Amino acid sequence: MDTPGKTIKCKAAVAWAVGKPLSIEEVEVAPPKAHEVRVKVIATGICGTDDHVLTGSFPKVNYPVIPGHEGAGIVESIGEGVTCMKPGDKVIPLCLPQCGECASCLKPNTNCCLKTHLLEPQNLMPDKTSRFTCQGKLVHHFLWISTFSEYTVMPDSTVVKIDDGAPLDKVCLFGCGFSTGYGAALNTAQVTPGSSCAVFGLGGVGLSVVMGCKAAGASQIIGIDINKDKFVTAKELGATECLNPLDYKKPIQEVLVEMTDHGVDYAFEVVGCLDTLTAALASCHMGCGVCVMVGVPPLGSRLSFDPMLLFTGRTLKGSFIGGWKMKDSVPQLVSSYMEGKFKPDILITHTLPFSKISEGFDLLHAGKSIRIVLVF
Ligand code: APR
Ligand code: ZN
Ligand code: ZN
Repeated sequence: MDTPGKTIKCKAAVAWAVGKPLSIEEVEVAPPKAHEVRVKVIATGICGTDDHVLTGSFPKVNYPVIPGHEGAGIVESIGEGVTCMKPGDKVIPLCLPQCGECASCLKPNTNCCLKTHLLEPQNLMPDKTSRFTCQGKLVHHFLWISTFSEYTVMPDSTVVKIDDGAPLDKVCLFGCGFSTGYGAALNTAQVTPGSSCAVFGLGGVGLSVVMGCKAAGASQIIGIDINKDKFVTAKELGATECLNPLDYKKPIQEVLVEMTDHGVDYAFEVVGCLDTLTAALASCHMGCGVCVMVGVPPLGSRLSFDPMLLFTGRTLKGSFIGGWKMKDSVPQLVSSYMEGKFKPDILITHTLPFSKISEGFDLLHAGKSIRIVLVF
């Protein structure tokens, strides 16, 4: 098909308004402008963050919008000035840009590019226009990448070329879930060999933290979840024991402190709740424990805890997409995957055709899945 330079008509899942389910529509996708890339999406994961878009609990979203941010695909065409990829290349869209020029990109120790959606909405392309229309109406982009569309346009700072041999229906997880969890252990916490770790929340992201702790050589990895169905996979991936807080009369942090000779070296909050964040902090060793916040807290919430928890030497830090500078790191993660260094495939419990996206969200809500991948 001779598509470069032309508008493409294709299927996409559109969220028309807060509280409305996704609806599969035919959309028009305009060609990429300068420094933009049009990608044919081959596979996309469903992440809890996409669900937050539907419920209105993700900040700065404009509707109608095409969500999706954990995809992998093939470059269909490029705009003027794009030099980092060409049509036919396999790519992963990045939910966190690496512009390479801002004050954060120039620092070696942060991945928080100042083009992040946390500072400026990414609902339109950088020139403040959309490449999507549906039924004559403008449709907004999500995080600049909108992977719930068979074709999607994004700035070249927010997509990266990967190994030609990579299986796109697996490596799409490097766009968000796996990288977020694995990097929280390796980059943010910098888990040391022989250490003890507690991971609160054993969803796709928490299990990726477990994989990271194991890869870093932790000797004790304690998984914590209120759904014991998650324990089998957690143990397969390296958890040495798993606890259900509902099985204990005392708070889980007290159980952990007793189990680990005054607290774990590293605790990870991967639920996205304030209570589990405070519990994770309190379960760390009082003099040197490090608590890493991975889960996204509820919009507008405020944290309150006894500051003495920090006074004695604990550290509380946040991890944003695993601390990876994504343009540099995602291709390396894919290469390591191709070498068999880790197997996030185990996280993919369901692979569905894109047309069954609603079924995918139902599975997510039912807690019956770890990661769901949709294929076009
Ligand atoms: N204590 C322990 N575990 C809990 C609790 C609790 N109080 N409440 C929920 N959980 C568990 C759930 O049973 C589930 O297994 O936390 C897990 C969360 O997993 P998912 O919903 O699959 O979420 P995931 O995709 O792993 O993301 C986790 O990280 O990136 C962020 O926004 C994301 O905040 C979310 C978090
Ligand atoms: Zn995500
Ligand atoms: Zn930047």
